[in-house]
Amino acid sequence: MLSDKMVKSINHQINREHYSAYLYLSMASYAAAEGLNGFANWFAVQMKEEMFHAEKMYNYVNQQGSRVLLEAIEQPPTEFSSMLDLFEKTLEHEKGVTAMINNLVKLAREKDDYATESFLQWYVTEQVEEEANPAEIIQKLKFIGKDGRGLLMMDKDLAARVFTVPTATGQ
Ligand code: FEO
Repeated sequence: MLSDKMVKSINHQINREHYSAYLYLSMASYAAAEGLNGFANWFAVQMKEEMFHAEKMYNYVNQQGSRVLLEAIEQPPTEFSSMLDLFEKTLEHEKGVTAMINNLVKLAREKDDYATESFLQWYVTEQVEEEANPAEIIQKLKFIGKDGRGLLMMDKDLAARVFTVPTATGQ
């Protein structure tokens, strides 16, 4: 059984995961419009990962006999300046998500809610990857600089990314 505060907090996190999906879809659309379909693919896969993050929380709340109350999803930004800009904003956004997940863990500990604390460990692990991926791509983009050929090669690499259901801790 979840406390009211925990249900409210997870409900809000479900909203933030949906917002993340929306943000990455907006980024995918920008990359596609720039003719960089590999970059667009990377963000489209990222969008699916975020939907999975939200769905996993949705299932958990239901499993615990509580109710998911969906909140309005805010409009994501639509103006970007480059592929580097997309990934810098992605990293900044993911750092914010990590802080939110950590706050949820803190709340679970305060409430002696061991089941939720254990459930959230999957997200703690996932966030390490969520920050590492854009950070690595930012490094490469900085190395490439204004070399168009380098950008096209990277576009080809990012086209290979596929969505697979994450299994970090088998949950
Ligand atoms: Fe759901 Fe990108 O963290």
